[in-house]
Amino acid sequence: MASKTSRDVLVRGLRVLGRAIREEPKIFAVAVGGSVLFGLLTIGSAYLVGAIVGDVVVPAISTGRADTGLLALGAAALIGISVLKVVGIFGRRLGAGYMQFRLQAAYRRRVTRRYLELPLAWHQRHATGTLLSNANSDVEATWFPIAPLPFAVGTVVMLVTAFASLFATDWVLALVGVAIFPALFALNVVYSRRMAPRQARAQQLRAEVSEIAHESFDGALVVKTMGREAQETSRFAARAGELRDALISVGRLRGVFDPMLETLPSVGTLAVLLIGAWRLRQGAVTVTELVSVAFLFTVLAFPVRAIGWVLAELPRSVAGWERVRHVLTATGEMPYGDAELDTRDTPATLAFDRVGFGYEPADPQQPAQPVLHDISFTVPPGRTVALVGPTGSGKSTIAALAVRLVDPQSGRVTIDGLDVRSLRAASLAATAALVAQVPFVFDDTVRANIALDRPGVTDDEVWAALRLAGADGFVARLPDGLDAMVGERGTTLSGGQRQRLTLARALAGRPRLLVLDDATSAVDPRVEAAILAALRRADTATSILVVAYRRATIALADEVVYVEHGRVVAHGTHPELLASCTGYADLVTAYEKAEAEREREKAYEEATLDAEVGA
Ligand SMILES: Nc1ncnc2c1ncn2[C@@H]1O[C@H](COP(=O)(O)OP(=O)(O)OP(=O)(O)O)[C@@H](O)[C@H]1O
Ligand SMILES: [Mg+2]
Repeated sequence: MASKTSRDVLVRGLRVLGRAIREEPKIFAVAVGGSVLFGLLTIGSAYLVGAIVGDVVVPAISTGRADTGLLALGAAALIGISVLKVVGIFGRRLGAGYMQFRLQAAYRRRVTRRYLELPLAWHQRHATGTLLSNANSDVEATWFPIAPLPFAVGTVVMLVTAFASLFATDWVLALVGVAIFPALFALNVVYSRRMAPRQARAQQLRAEVSEIAHESFDGALVVKTMGREAQETSRFAARAGELRDALISVGRLRGVFDPMLETLPSVGTLAVLLIGAWRLRQGAVTVTELVSVAFLFTVLAFPVRAIGWVLAELPRSVAGWERVRHVLTATGEMPYGDAELDTRDTPATLAFDRVGFGYEPADPQQPAQPVLHDISFTVPPGRTVALVGPTGSGKSTIAALAVRLVDPQSGRVTIDGLDVRSLRAASLAATAALVAQVPFVFDDTVRANIALDRPGVTDDEVWAALRLAGADGFVARLPDGLDAMVGERGTTLSGGQRQRLTLARALAGRPRLLVLDDATSAVDPRVEAAILAALRRADTATSILVVAYRRATIALADEVVYVEHGRVVAHGTHPELLASCTGYADLVTAYEKAEAEREREKAYEEATLDAEVGA
């Protein structure tokens, strides 16, 4: 079983290496060229040292007179070989480094690009920590064996050549090599096999540790308010402890095998010297040959380890590659069409036509649970439609469908009569803007957060958008105005400020359709109503679909679509629905009561609020 899986890892690992060679054939050729040059020169140097000893040193000892001319020649040859070896090492290292880092960069780009292509549904099924480690450590691990690969390939060429010359020199001494080098190789293989599961486990734990850390920083607010610091710390500590143990077990294995790998070649050299002395007496080998072979053993031992390095990294590489491949081959991205929407400053028409939708379950075996059934309604150009319904009734899902974050399973969503699936991505983005229920603020300046590098969004436009969103007051009071940095996830802003900033971001693009998913819930009710009223008056006439709770906001809408359990239950003006639909009337009254309650509680904060709002 174990050998089957490690053979499997070997096969898959070689495939990953093959992929690397196919992607960077020229650089690989340079690196292997350098490595082969080094290998052949290494063998050459062993024979040269043998020749110097046999032809210069030994005669010098026996005659008492050294042949200085020959010695100088030998020294020059040794220096020449060393210089060429340096060239070989340089070519190999440079090539290997280039290849490894180019592949890492390329695959990091591919993974990140894929993340952005994959639909929201895919992201909802994958933890952020995992995504980060896929793009970072998994990509790195995949291409780790590239660094020693050219060395290992050169070593194979070197070994073949060395064995040929060994057998040509003396078959008895060659047999020592036959015993030692395969043993060394086998030891390397056992080492890498033992290492494989430990490395894989450490890799997995690294991802888990970063996931836990990410989660507890992300949820810092919950952690703090619920007094869960101790639990979170111990949860993190437990996993970090497992990672420590896994890494220690990797280190322990290294501690056992490294000395053995060090010792074996020395044993070989010793055997060569002992057996060689006997062969010398028999006259089977010359001093030159014996010294050459003994030296060969010492210089060959180190490169053989390069093969072990590649093998040792393969399991990690395979594990990393599996995860990277999972991202690269993930499907479900939404294909875009090439239809273009009108770009004139006229409001768009949004229509839902018998739309049915269910979220993909986390477990692909399970059927999708339907969330929306047969949803039909229209937002006529320039009109404001309020979407009202109890929590979990599907309002955010409808908002997501309107801007094509997700696609319906049945029916269609159209803008100006065109199915949103037929539109070019840029055209859709320029036309429709969603302000989500949970505001997201980049760790950047106010200006960058609103303009988002979109062409034509000048400071004037930014201020106009801020004014419309009721955010100009507080931004003007920030010490650096538009240049003020807002922290990661907008933690330096209040909830209401953050919401208004994201609203301004949507408005700065002058969308022809604005979808507000409860986008002003954290804003004072009067300010919310004022914002909506301003939007309806604005010369940048836009159609608005607004998920709303407050009566004052709902009353501003031209029409109300009332949903319950993913179905449109009633459709009409606010007074009509109040009179005809008891569910609606109950809900709105309940909202109102809750709002009044909140108002009373908040009454004493009025002064601060007013100052903050700049009313
Ligand atoms: N990513 C998701 N995966 C699976 N189910 C989801 C997902 N998002 C929402 N749902 C489910 O879809 C249904 C509708 O959710 P939705 O967020 O659209 O409701 P909502 O009307 O916006 O609620 P709220 O008023 O609380 O914001 C709910 O039953 C919810 O559990
Ligand atoms: Mg919602």
